[in-house]
Formats: sequence, C-alpha cells, structure tokens
Amino acid sequence: MCGIIGYSGHRPAIPAIVEGLRRLEYRGYDSAGVAYEDPRGLHVIRAEGKLGALDDKIRGLDTTSSLCGIGHTRWATHGLPVERNAHPHMDGAGRFALVHNGIIENYAELKAELQAEGHVFLSETDTEVLVHMIAKGVDQTGDVRRGISWALARVDGAYAFALLSKDHPGKIWASRKASPLLMGVGVGENFVASDIPAFLPYTREVVFLDNGELVEIDASSWQVFDIVSLEPKAKEVRHISWDVQAAQKDGYKHFMLKEIFEQPKVIRDCLAGRIQKGQVALPELDALPVPERLTIVACGTSYHAGLWAKYLLETWARIPVQVEIASEFRYRDSVFLPGDLVLTISQSGETADTLAAIRIAREAGVAILGLCNVVGSSIARESDSVVYTQAGPEISVASTKAMCSQMVVLLLMTLAWAARKGILAAEASEDCLRALIRISDLLEAELPAIRKQAKILCQEYSDARSFFVLGRGLYVPLALEGALKPKEISYIHAAGYASGEMKHGPIALIDAQVPTFAMALNDDLLQKVASNLQGVQARGGRIIALVNPGAAPVVESPWVLPEAWGPLKSFLVLPAVQLFAYEMAVYLGKDVDQPRNLAKSVTVE
Ligand code: F6R
Repeated sequence: MCGIIGYSGHRPAIPAIVEGLRRLEYRGYDSAGVAYEDPRGLHVIRAEGKLGALDDKIRGLDTTSSLCGIGHTRWATHGLPVERNAHPHMDGAGRFALVHNGIIENYAELKAELQAEGHVFLSETDTEVLVHMIAKGVDQTGDVRRGISWALARVDGAYAFALLSKDHPGKIWASRKASPLLMGVGVGENFVASDIPAFLPYTREVVFLDNGELVEIDASSWQVFDIVSLEPKAKEVRHISWDVQAAQKDGYKHFMLKEIFEQPKVIRDCLAGRIQKGQVALPELDALPVPERLTIVACGTSYHAGLWAKYLLETWARIPVQVEIASEFRYRDSVFLPGDLVLTISQSGETADTLAAIRIAREAGVAILGLCNVVGSSIARESDSVVYTQAGPEISVASTKAMCSQMVVLLLMTLAWAARKGILAAEASEDCLRALIRISDLLEAELPAIRKQAKILCQEYSDARSFFVLGRGLYVPLALEGALKPKEISYIHAAGYASGEMKHGPIALIDAQVPTFAMALNDDLLQKVASNLQGVQARGGRIIALVNPGAAPVVESPWVLPEAWGPLKSFLVLPAVQLFAYEMAVYLGKDVDQPRNLAKSVTVE
C-alpha cells in the first residue's frame, strides 16, 4: 500500500517529507520519491528500493530553501518497481508533479486517447496518465481546481493524490475517492497524507477528507471543496490522541486485526478494472490456452485458497484440478500431460518451495501462471503470465486478507475460463459478479458483529487446548484454514477435517475437553454435516457452528452469519475463523503482532 505526504509551511520541506515517509514505512513499499519547489522551479527525485536510496540521491542537493513538496512510497500495482515507475510523475511540460495511491481503472483507455493527441509517457503507471489528464484539464479550463475537477470526472477507479504546480509555489491540491487521505492542520504549516503517522510529530489536529472532496492547502490556509461543484465545504478539525504506533495500525490494536477489517476494501480492489460490461476482464489469461488440466501449487494459507478454488473450477469451468503442497510437489516425480497448466499461488511471491515448483514445471515444458500479491517478485518474474491480487502489503505474521484476495481472483479466473469454454451462461456469470460486488458491503457491515461473537465464544471455549474444525465441500479448505490460524497465533492445537472423515478414526478423540468448530452453512451438504455433528454430540463434544438463519442444526453454540449468494458465503466464513483465532490469541495474552517472519516464506532447503 503506498504512502503519501504533502507539506507546505515554514520549515525545509524535504526533511519533513522524508521523515513522514519513514513513519509510513510499515505499510511496505518498493520505491520512493519526492517533488519540491524552490525559486529555480519544480524538481523530482526518485529511487528504486528503500528510503536510504532516496536519501543518497537527496544528500548532494541543496533543498533547504524549499518549503513546499510532496513525497511517496510506492507499492507497485501497474508496472515494475523500478525508478521510472516511482512517484512523483509529471505532465509532459513539467508543470505539475503528482503522487497517487489507488488504481485508475480506465487508464489504458485514457492513455490511448492522450497518446493520439501527442502526449508522450515515460512510465507504465496509471498515475502518469492521471497527471497528464489534470494538465489537460487545466489547459482547457484555465484554472487548477477546475482542471482537477474536469479530469476526475473522466476517471474511473480509486485514488488519493497530492499535486504540486510550478506556477503556484507553496500550494498543494489533494483529493480522494475510496483511498485514504487526510489533512494535518499546523501553525504556519499544513499537511496532506494517506495516514496520520506521517505528520503526527508536528500536529494532532486532523481533517478527515471524504470521497469527492478536493483540498487546497498552503502554509497558512486550507479549504475543502466539493469536487464537482467546486463549492467550499465546512469541515471539522479533530484532535487525535493516538501515538505513532496506534496510528500506524489505523487505531486497531494489531496489524492482524487491521488486515482482517481491510477485507471489504481488498475485495473491491481485486475487482477494480476486472469487470467490464458485466463480464470478467482478465487479459493476463489471454496469452495462455484454457487449461485441459490444472495443477495448483502453493503453501500454507495460499494452498487453502487453491483447495477452495478446486471446487469452483471443477463445477463451473469443468477443468480437472489437483492441488499440491509445494514442498511435496517439488520432490515428487509428477506426470504432466499436453494441455496442462501449473498455477502457483503466493502472497509474497518469494516462497522457496513454490518457486522450486515453478522451476520443475518449466523443465517439464508446462505453462506457468502465477497468482501473487507482490509485483515483480521472483514467482511473478518466473511465470509465463501473472495475475496480481492487488491486496496491498500484508504486514501481520498471519496471512488473512491475502487469502480473501486470492479467492476473489480465483473466482474471476473460473468465470473467465468457463466463459472461454462457452459452458457458463452469461447470466449466471453476471449473477455471480453482481453478488461479488455486493459481498464487500455486506462484509463491511457485518465485521463488527462477527468480531463481537468471536470474542464471546473464544472466552467460553478458552479452556480448550485442542479443537476439531470441520466442514464439507467448499468449507473443507476453510476448515483447514480455520485450524491453521489458532495453531499459528493462539498456540492452540486444531485439526481441520472434512466432517465425513470423522467417523473413520478421529471421532475417538471427542469429549467435553475437545470442542468442535463446524461450518454448517445452508447448502446442499448441510444435512450431511448435521448428521456428522450428531456423532460429535453423542460423544459429549461441545460444538460451535457457523450457520445461516433458519437452517441451523441444533448445537450448543450456534454462530449465525447472514445469508449470502452460494459460494460467496465463504467470504463471511473466512473472517469468522480468522477473528476467532485472533480473539483467542488476545484473550490468552499471546503476542499477535510478531514481526513477519520472512524465514517462514522464503525458507531455502
Ligand atoms: C499463514 C501464513 C503462511 C503462508 C505461507 C505461504 O498465516 O502466513 O501459511 O500462507 O507461508 O506464503 P506465500 O503465500 O507468501 O507463498
């Protein structure tokens, strides 16, 4: 997730901006840059890698006379994490510099239009298109505010940006739609930023900007406007008492909790630009034939996402799928057939076993598709084609929002392949996509209640040192994930099983000390799950069951989730198991936010 800061005031801008970016480092980034004004004009400095590389470039320059500037840390979404794609970006005439977070969905279309008018682009980013559009708007309307309003009316997608103009020293404009942006009000200085920590040492007076607002700041004044009418708007200045650490977590106690609560936004970001005219648009798949047989290879949570997708790919796209644990696959002598495709799934794109699997498939001459979150990562580079999850960096040691994003994209892939095979009616696909768009709002509304219930139940069951987590069908992978999370962060043993397997041995372990966490959602297999749960009850086992209203088996602790469209119930089940493990860890006093243990994902054997 990128970081933005803009400063106009009485102190040298560049040190304040770079320090602000440093306080946003926790968000993760792969390049950084600043733009500043001084009496000689507008300057941009950018560097690939960490802030130290940017510092090295700034060190030899005299920036002390500059009292106004903008800065950015970039997490790549469009284009590789290299210097030419780092922000700020400028328009062709070098009059404006812009830093931007978010995704401009129609950037390719706008870029083609601008190129036809003679605009030349130096990067692969959507941001450069946005600054060219704003410059065009300013030329057409003769005014910066009106030019921004004109450009934003043409733009689809999510954004938060800050803009400097060579012709208006000391001024910054900033606006947002669906990406965070706020303003810090100081004495003789003002800030805009994507996150509070960026300016917290200088001011605690904050104005939260809403979607569709434009703010104009200079050292001594600020004003918010409606982006369409450009009428001024009154805004409340709020005093923030958070410390830097709390602010980095958006006020959440832990990164894990923050990332669980980010999932509605993650769903929206994954879908951004990928639904066009009611159908899936995933051009990354076009270079490869529809697989005749698919082998999904991954580790941990990403492996569970692959298992989940198998059910949908086989049912809707009629593609035979095998899902493999990468550390097994790499040491086995797999049989490949013509028409095979290997799909690797990885949040980090650096997991050694998954990377090894790619190399094996490459040697066997099999086509490789990567699904990962980190642009330009090893897995992305070594795959024939790559689809990015667009979930933003995952900082928590426990992977949460990554699985949600992987499930969204895997669902889109299923629909895309089914459509190419001509075996899924357009209306069925449209129904699914409409439901997928709606599920993010439902999840957003429900997350506080899901968390509340998780808190109550984990207190009731905190004496348990071992759980069974059960499901059938699509919920088997979610049961496995529901058993992984408590092991990893609550340090409680949990075994995930297909509930039909219980009678083949494991049920012998059931008693009052070994509770069961069941997924008994309303679907074709509910009656089967209900009868498996009767077996557990007959042995005195306590049961927590995720259920839908009106369709629940009678258990000791029903946990009612709202109804959702078919398989999309999974997007409510996933945060429920994540929050159960999270609240259990908090209740038991475990250290939830250990720093991300890279050794886990990059193990070299
Ligand atoms: C679980 C977790 C791990 C990762 C696994 C794969 O919470 O974080 O199980 O899912 O190490 O990592 P990636 O997806 O980066 O390949």
